[in-house]
Amino acid sequence: SEDIFKKIISHAKEYGFIFQSSEIYDGLSAVYDYGQNGAELKNNIKQYWWKAMVQLNENIVGIDSAIFMHPTTWKASGHVDAFNDPLIDNKDSKKRYRADVLIEDYCAKIEAKIDKEVEKAAKRFGDSFDKEQFVSTNTRIIEYQQKIDSILSRMAKSLETENLADVKALIEELEIADPVTGSKNWTEVRQFNLMFGTKLGATADSAMDLYLRPETAQGIFVNFLNVQKTGRMKIPFGIAQIGKAFRNEIVARQFIFRMREFEQMEMQYFVQPGTELEWYTKWKETRLKWHKALGLGEENYRFHDHEKLAHYANAATDIEFKFPFGFKELEGIHSRTDFDLSSHEKHSSKKLQYFDNELNKSYVPYVVETSVGLDRLFLAIFSNSLKEELLEDGSERTVLSLPPALAPIKAAILPLIKRDGLPEFAEKIFNDLRLDFNVMYEEKDSIGKRYRRMDAIGTPFCITIDHDSLNDNSVTLRHRDTMKQERVPVEKLSEIIDKEVNM
Ligand code: GAP
Repeated sequence: SEDIFKKIISHAKEYGFIFQSSEIYDGLSAVYDYGQNGAELKNNIKQYWWKAMVQLNENIVGIDSAIFMHPTTWKASGHVDAFNDPLIDNKDSKKRYRADVLIEDYCAKIEAKIDKEVEKAAKRFGDSFDKEQFVSTNTRIIEYQQKIDSILSRMAKSLETENLADVKALIEELEIADPVTGSKNWTEVRQFNLMFGTKLGATADSAMDLYLRPETAQGIFVNFLNVQKTGRMKIPFGIAQIGKAFRNEIVARQFIFRMREFEQMEMQYFVQPGTELEWYTKWKETRLKWHKALGLGEENYRFHDHEKLAHYANAATDIEFKFPFGFKELEGIHSRTDFDLSSHEKHSSKKLQYFDNELNKSYVPYVVETSVGLDRLFLAIFSNSLKEELLEDGSERTVLSLPPALAPIKAAILPLIKRDGLPEFAEKIFNDLRLDFNVMYEEKDSIGKRYRRMDAIGTPFCITIDHDSLNDNSVTLRHRDTMKQERVPVEKLSEIIDKEVNM
C-alpha cells in the first residue's frame, strides 16, 4: 500500500493536482498547493457540499467569516487551554514525536500481530473459518486485545488528567524506541499548543496577539445571533461555512491527510435543548448517505463512535474512510451541547439566546456539528479514483475515474489532425460548450496520447472531430470509463454532457 500511496502522490504532481508548497525552496512540510486541475476538483467538491448542505436545505444558510478573530474567542472555545498535543523528544536523536502517536503506533504493531494470526487461521480452516468466533475465543488474540485496551485506556486517562509523567512512564514501560534510531533515551512529556500565533498592529506595545483559527466553527458561533436575527431563522436551523483552518501539526505525514494549513467544511445546527441526540442521529445518517452518494464504494465507510468525549460534547462520531493507509477519520459529527455559545456568553457578557415562540421562553440553543476536511475528502476521492487497468490488447492505462460532477474538465475537444479545417470546426464546438462546462481544446500529439492524458486527469468525455464531421455534423464521443466510442450529432453534445456531469 506504500507503493500505491507513492503513486497517488506522484500522479497528483505530474498531472497538476497538488504540488509541494514553495517547492523551488525545497518545500514546507505539511503545506501543499493545488495546481490547475487540483483547484478545479477542489472547487467542485466545495460546490457539491454547499449545494447539499445550503442550497437544498431551506433552513441552512452559509457564511464566510474571517480567519482572524478576537483572541478571547479562543479562550472561550477552550483552545488556548486545551488544544494541545503531548510531545516528547529523544535525547540522542534530537527528534521530536507526539507521545500519544508513539503509543498508538506501538498498539498498531500488536494489532498487526492479531491480523497475522487471523490470516494464518483463515488459511488453515478454509471455508469453514468463522473470524468473529476465532477472534473472540483464541487466547493469544484475547491477550493481545486486552493489552491494547489497557494501554490505550491508561494513556487516555493520563492525558485527560494531564498526568504527563505517567505518559512518559508508559513509554518507558513499553520500551518504545525512537522509530528512526532505536534509542530509548526520552525527555519528559510536555504539552504543545497547536495554534499558530501572530500579531495584529504595528508597534510592539500596541500589537495584539492573535491566532490563526484552528477551526472554522467559532466564526459561526460568534455570528449565531447576527445570522438568526437578520435571516429571521427559526430553530432548528443551521449555519454552514467553508474556509481555511491552521494547526501546527507535529506528525506531518500522509500527504494532504494531515496538513498545517487546510480547509474545513463545517455546519453548526442549532436545536432545542433536549432534542440534540435526535438531530445528532439524523445528521450521522444524512452525512453518511451524502458520502456514499459519491460512488466511491459503500464498503469504504464506517462510523467510529467516540467512547471518550471531549469536554464540550455529549456524543461524537467519526465517519471513517478506507484510505490507502487504512481506515481513518474523514468527517466528525459532534453533539456539542450549549458549551460554545454559553462560554461565549460568559466571556463576552453578551446574551446569545434565542426566543422560542413555541415554548414561549429564551434559551441557549444546543448544537450538532458536522465537520469534514476538504483536503481529506479530496484525498479520499482522488486516491479511490486512481486506477491502473490492463486492457484487452495487453497494454496498460492509468485512469482517474472521478465522479463526473467533480471532474476538473468535463470534455476535451480534439481535432483528429491539425489541418483540413478540422481545428476550426473543433474550435466552434469548443466555444459553444465552454459557456456551460469547463472544457478543453487540444490539438497536439496523436489522438491516442491525447485520450490517455484525458483519462489521467479524469475527463469523462473526449469529443473527436474527423473529416466526416465536416459533412455529417457529427463527432465521435468517447466515454472515459468504458472507452466506448459512439457517433453523435454536434447539437446533442451539450445535453449528453449535462446529463452526466450535473450533480
Ligand atoms: N469543529 C470541529 C473540528 O474542527 P476536528 O475533528 O478537529 O473537529 C474536523 O476536525 C475535520 O477536519 C476532520 O475530520 C478532518 O477531516 C479535518 N482536519 C482536521 N485536522 C486536519 C489537518 N491537520 N489536515 C487536514 N484536515 C484536517
